[in-house]
Amino acid sequence: MSKGHRVLTGITTTGVPHLGNLVGAVLPAIKASKLKDTTSFLFLADYHSLIKNSDLELRHKSSFEIAACWLACGLDPKKAIFYRQSDIPHIFELAWVLSCLASKGLLNRAHAYKAATSDNETKKVQDIDKGINMGLFNYPILMAADILMFKADSVPVGQDQKQHIEMTRDIALKFNNQYGDILTLPDAIIDKNAGVLPGIDGRKMSKSYGNTIPIFSENEALRKVIMKIKTNSLEPGEPKEASDSNIFNIYKAISTKEKIDELHNLFQEGIAWGEAKKVLFEELNSFLKPFKNEYEKIIKDKSYIERILIEGSEKALSISEPIIKEVRQAVGIKGF
Ligand code: TRP
Repeated sequence: MSKGHRVLTGITTTGVPHLGNLVGAVLPAIKASKLKDTTSFLFLADYHSLIKNSDLELRHKSSFEIAACWLACGLDPKKAIFYRQSDIPHIFELAWVLSCLASKGLLNRAHAYKAATSDNETKKVQDIDKGINMGLFNYPILMAADILMFKADSVPVGQDQKQHIEMTRDIALKFNNQYGDILTLPDAIIDKNAGVLPGIDGRKMSKSYGNTIPIFSENEALRKVIMKIKTNSLEPGEPKEASDSNIFNIYKAISTKEKIDELHNLFQEGIAWGEAKKVLFEELNSFLKPFKNEYEKIIKDKSYIERILIEGSEKALSISEPIIKEVRQAVGIKGF
């Protein structure tokens, strides 16, 4: 039987769910999970979060909130396989196998690792590896294992993850050359629109930059974040270039064509920045409202979320189990 088309994506469970997660990953992945002949694997990359912070309470809370976020935004556990990475030990077993194939030089070139060493260099720290743990270094291998474990064909990710998918292909190819054609080489699916969602400071919205718009915050907190969006110093009445504006670019990701055109006109007519922020705030509020309502309901029932994840992991394990067996056989780890 053909395995059909497999789409897989995960979110690292650090921090609170934000608008970038929503428009960049969660909503497109949920939409794709409803396509025919597609199996979606959507998961919480909870072990990936270990490299980023040491606050266990925060990690646990973030994992819960991101799980609730997927469900509140319409993930249907009957249509997608929804699980925690940590519930699938086969992933970690495969990660070891892959790490014995991946060359260290390949990982030396990973953006996150390079950024960390060059940070040390700038600070004139003698040991360029100071403060860098092996988790950060091996991050791309664990990510490759997430993907290869389920023979995923497509991986929708942000532009910043492109290198990780290239590395995954590289390692899979090495495996296949050495041990036989077992692993699937995945394609990165990069949505051009989602990739450009700016944060409140204009850089890509990302928890590592601390520039995110949280989606499930109180109205007042949301208003405050919107008011902090960086603008230039043009006065009310002066025409403003919509495409250069963070306010407009965020608005574009959440509104309808008609309203986007309307705001575009207001920019040309010289709308005041404060006014533009108000327009964005109101639109964002109504865009988020149904998700927020659902979220409030869902978080009250922890056992419901837990049950869905357990069921999801059972489905995921039934797929990873035969694949890890295939891998063990292929590398010569087998009974006598
Ligand atoms: N690295 C991804 C991020 O931070 C999260 C992630 C972990 C992932 N494993 C994955 C994404 C596998 C896609 C596929 O956004």
